[in-house]
Amino acid sequence: MEKPRNIYIETYGCQMNVADSEVVLGIMREAGYSRTEEATKADVIFVNTCAVRENAEQRVYGRLGDFRHLKRSNPAVVLGVLGCMAERLRKDLLEEETSVDLVVGPDEYRKLPALVDAAMQGEKGIAIRLSRVENYDDIEPLREDGISAWISIMRGCDKFCTFCVVPFTRGRERSRSLDNIVREVERLAQRGFKEVTLLGQNVNSYRDADHDFADLLARCAAADRSMRVRFTTSHPQDMSIKLIETIAAHENICKYIHLPVQSGSDRILELMNRTYTADEYLRLVDRIKRTIPGVSLSTDIIAGFPTESDADHRKTIELIQAVEYDGAFTFKYSPRENTKAWNMADSVPEELKIERLNEIIDVQRAISFRLNQQLIGRTVGVLVEGESKKSDQDFCGRTDTNKMVVFPRNGYQPGAYAEIWIRRANAATLFGQHEPSTAQEG
Ligand code: 5AD
Ligand code: SF4
Repeated sequence: MEKPRNIYIETYGCQMNVADSEVVLGIMREAGYSRTEEATKADVIFVNTCAVRENAEQRVYGRLGDFRHLKRSNPAVVLGVLGCMAERLRKDLLEEETSVDLVVGPDEYRKLPALVDAAMQGEKGIAIRLSRVENYDDIEPLREDGISAWISIMRGCDKFCTFCVVPFTRGRERSRSLDNIVREVERLAQRGFKEVTLLGQNVNSYRDADHDFADLLARCAAADRSMRVRFTTSHPQDMSIKLIETIAAHENICKYIHLPVQSGSDRILELMNRTYTADEYLRLVDRIKRTIPGVSLSTDIIAGFPTESDADHRKTIELIQAVEYDGAFTFKYSPRENTKAWNMADSVPEELKIERLNEIIDVQRAISFRLNQQLIGRTVGVLVEGESKKSDQDFCGRTDTNKMVVFPRNGYQPGAYAEIWIRRANAATLFGQHEPSTAQEG
């Protein structure tokens, strides 16, 4: 009998890539492969890559260096580069010194088993065509049992923000069928999952015939009322009133919206092709806050986009203060080939980018801290995820507003809902216990 083949996969970048790696593992399982957690035991090593910023790519290059060494002691192993860097760098990656055997873009994963077979015969392979229709709707992703699952509901992006490489690496926008997504939620519920996150570069423009994202969200929430439903990412332009009302109407749709703003300056927003003004964005936020009481908001912000002045940067700071985000993901602008912004001079010096980035981080941290302090003395509902990172005596889990809570294990099981009384908080984490403290402080 043939020895079973093992596959090892490492994933970089966004949650879409995490979901894609599960699709890849699903395809490889059908072809007879088993997953291994150890690269040294693998017959096939895949690196699922991200090209969104320069430093993401640098990290992958570092890892490919490690795998090149591994290949020296085991030349039979097949090394494949998947995902967004495959699309961006194409043949470059197949050069001798990288030791890469396969370069496969995000829409060509069905070809992986055949390409790996050929590579085992010594034939290097490249498959990087982007598709207008591929959505892997019929592939069962390989997921370990757990509490929380990712479900990719659409692929690609048509927004063409001028800084972003995603429309070039992931291609045009296309959605999966609503019925298949709902069936996936039902199957996950039967397997004991308690939370799903619907994923796409811009979930708000999801469409299946007459059904929009609000319809999909409502159907997923109705599939199992004990299942939490999350989603990411939302583009402000497509955030409809119907969607906001749908989030408010369903108890098990999490009251947390990741709504990237990127900048607070109208001039920069225009150069970024974001299609809204700061004022329009603030009005949207106001509508969201009024319709969904207690909603938690987060954002993405880029510091140092071409031509960004101190005045533009101040507007970003003012917008952050006006919205009062619960959290923010912040990035230094990184020029990406093919994008429109690539042709604009990268005019903000590195030190100034860092200075602005640090100010944004400090302002946001103070806001997160203040908002979290307001929860002290309150009881919050938490989905128990498992042991906390710092202590095996403690469990951790998230509120539906996506705040991390740490509390004593106290007989809880992962997957249970716990009511936790918040005792203290910092900018990132809430710390609680099961009963309000009756001890006198001080
Ligand atoms: N430089 C810096 N940040 C970027 N992002 C996307 N492209 C770039 C880039 N070229 C950020 C945006 C986006 C997030 C996923 O990554 O803020 O929302
Ligand atoms: Fe990139 Fe803009 Fe699409 Fe987000 S919405 S993936 S930032 S092009």
